[in-house]
This record gives sequence, C-alpha cells and structure tokens, in this order.
Amino acid sequence: MAAEHPAYPVGLRLTGRHTVVLGGGQVAQRRLPALIAAGADITLISPSATPSVEAMADAGELTWHRRTYADGDLAEAWYALIATSDPTANAAASAEAERHRVWCVRSDDADAATAWTPATGHSEGVTVAVLTTEAKGRDPRRTAAIRDAVVEGLRDGTLVAPHHRTRTPGVALVGGGPGDPDLITVRGRRLLAEADVVIADRLGPRDLLSELPPHVEVIDAAKIPYGRFMAQEAINNALIEHAKQGKSVVRLKGGDPFVYGRGMEEVQALAEAGIPCTVVPGISSSISVPGAAGIPVTHRGVAHEFTVVSGHVAPDDERSLVDWPALARLRGTLVILMGVDKIGRIAETLTAHGKPADTPVALIQEGTTAAQRRVDATLATVAEAVHTHEVKPPAVIVIGAVAAMNPVHTD
Ligand SMILES: C[S@@+](CC[C@H](N)C(=O)[O-])C[C@H]1O[C@@H](n2cnc3c(N)ncnc32)[C@H](O)[C@@H]1O
Repeated sequence: MAAEHPAYPVGLRLTGRHTVVLGGGQVAQRRLPALIAAGADITLISPSATPSVEAMADAGELTWHRRTYADGDLAEAWYALIATSDPTANAAASAEAERHRVWCVRSDDADAATAWTPATGHSEGVTVAVLTTEAKGRDPRRTAAIRDAVVEGLRDGTLVAPHHRTRTPGVALVGGGPGDPDLITVRGRRLLAEADVVIADRLGPRDLLSELPPHVEVIDAAKIPYGRFMAQEAINNALIEHAKQGKSVVRLKGGDPFVYGRGMEEVQALAEAGIPCTVVPGISSSISVPGAAGIPVTHRGVAHEFTVVSGHVAPDDERSLVDWPALARLRGTLVILMGVDKIGRIAETLTAHGKPADTPVALIQEGTTAAQRRVDATLATVAEAVHTHEVKPPAVIVIGAVAAMNPVHTD
C-alpha cells in the first residue's frame, strides 16, 4: 500500500468486539495484553503458542484454536493482528482482511498493513501513543524512545502538562524511601512535582526537594513551631491549615509512612478535619537498607522470618511494648530501627534470654545515601563496636545469620 500520506491516529474501542490474532509467537505475546486490557473478544488462531500466550488462553482471556489460518477466519472480525511465521498465510489473511474491510496489522510487512500499532504508554488516565508518519520511515526504537520520554517526563514531573481540570486539594502522605532519590515511587515523585506545599522530614530523599519549582513552599517538619502543642500536633495542624487554603500538600516521609512513621496519626487528624488524604507507600529502610549493604533479610535455608522492631526504648523501660525474651527465641532475622542508643541493653537482653553471643550483627548507617557505611559485630561486641566506630543514627541494625552472609557462595 502506498503510504505517502500519514496514518490517521484513532483509538479503537474494542470491548466485546471480535478480534482475531493469527500466530501465537513473540509478537502476539507482546500485543495481546493491551488487547485483553481493551476488553476485546479475542480469538487466537495458531498451531502453537509461547507459554505466556498459552497461560492467557488457560486463564480464559482469549479463545485459542490450535490450527493454521483458513480463509474465512477474518470474516466477522472488527480488527486483526496478523503475525504468523508463514509469509504466504500472512498475505492471504491480509487479502481477506482487505476484502472484508477489517483493519489489520501485519508484523511482517508494515507497508501492506492497513493499520499500525503505535508505541503506547500510560500516565494518570492518559494514553500516549506514538506513530511513525510513513511506513518507509518506520523506526520502532525511536517511537518507543519518544513514548518513554513523554511518559517518564509526565510521571516524574520533568514534563509539565498543565491540568485544566480542577486539582483536588488535600494531603498526600508520601513514603519517600530510605534516602536515595531514585528510590521513591513513581506516584510519589509525580505528586511531589504537582504539590503547592511539601512538609518534609529529616529522613528520606531530601535531594528531591532542591529539584522542586521555586513556587513550591517547602517546610521542614522539624522546624514547625509547636509551643503549646506537641510536635506531631503542630505538624497535623500545618497539614490541615494548608489543605484548607485549597493547596495540594505533600507530607514527605522517610521510608514507608506506616512503618514507625506516625502516618496513621496524620491520617486520623486529617479525617477528623474532613480533609481528603491519600497514602502512597514507600520503600521502608527496614528491608532496603540491609539490602543496599548486601544483606538479605531472608535467605533459603538460613532465615525463614524477619521481624522489624523499634529499639527507641530500652527492653527494661516500662513503656516498651516489645517481648524481647520471645524475640531471643526466634531463629530468623531481627531488624532493629531507632536502636543505636540502646543496642548495648538490647544485646544483653537477647543473650540473657538465650540468643547466642556470637550471633552476627550488622549496623548500616545512612543506607542508600552517599554516606552509607557498615559496621560488623556480634551480640557480644556490638556495644563496643558502636562506640569505637562512632555509629550514629539513622542506622538499621540487623541481627542474625544473614548479617554474615557473603555474596561468594562458600558452602
Ligand atoms: C522514625 S523511623 C522511620 C522509618 C521509616 N518510616 C521507614 O519505613 O524506613 C527512623 C529510623 O529508620 C531507620 N532509617 C531510616 N532511613 C534510614 C537510612 N537511610 N539508613 C539507615 N537507617 C535508616 C533508622 O533506624 C531510623 O532511626
């Protein structure tokens, strides 16, 4: 087909409409998920299929006829994807599609096709679809790269597309991850880029704050004056006040908002004030900081459980809610947050209740940041190691056999 005119872009609404896919190989495997997502009534005609395509058939997402193409297969179709490894069958099917006026994509001959599949991506209710203008100039890598640039830019806020719909004022409680700015979620980063006000903790991806546009008001949570209130109450009030002014507020927290992040207290305060609130989970330091130091919190045959514990109060403190004797009996990994100051008393309590004194311990300070460092010890030596190596918060403490694991297999 001559293609001196550009293709006409259109969005097909295939829900419930008969769609035929010829061939069950890699091309079908790549295209089928979008057809399934579009709700198409898919018939696959192919003597064989890849395991992934077969799984789609097994799951009832399409109907599979295990045979080669036969004339008449496209008669009732609204849309067809021709992707067999047999050029003769492809040409015959393509001719049938033309006869029946069925729009058809051909994997082997874009020039002979009546439709082209764009490189597509999605961002916040928008589909980005990129097409090459002419068959001769088709460059799938370039269209995919343009798609990626647009979608990534929309997601991380580097490409600003003004919203003409009204933005919902309210608060997003965003888990910022352990500190490396690359370890925030895509959603968190986008909300940050759209915020009017950001109230941030000391921990978390502080580097991201310097990238925010100048009109964004960045407030350090630690510096909110609290006078007659508790610090947390003052933060809750600041969230409520800014949201009441109709602003989009991001409460940026280190790690995950619900892991020692007081996230629920803020959710409750906002609910009481009638302010809409959304929670965006984050990568918690309890797993990611050990991981960044090469420590898996579980390992087959070594640790079948890991327990995350707060060490902010000593084991004999009446405010402690932790059952330390029970933890001493566990065989898996203990991960202690906020425990640097009390690690000596914690180690004594664990050994007093039966945990071997030579149990490996690793302390990882400022994990995932440029300042990350690791100190190794045992339960018997950890108090001294913290002192000698001047380990300071924030640090994650890992207790258990996984702390002594080596990437080089030594069994
Ligand atoms: C108040 S808790 C907040 C935890 C956070 N919500 C999370 O999910 O990671 C603060 C503690 O998390 C740990 N922590 C957070 N970020 C860390 C990092 N980058 N390196 C080491 N420890 C970290 C430290 O134990 C610190 O004292």
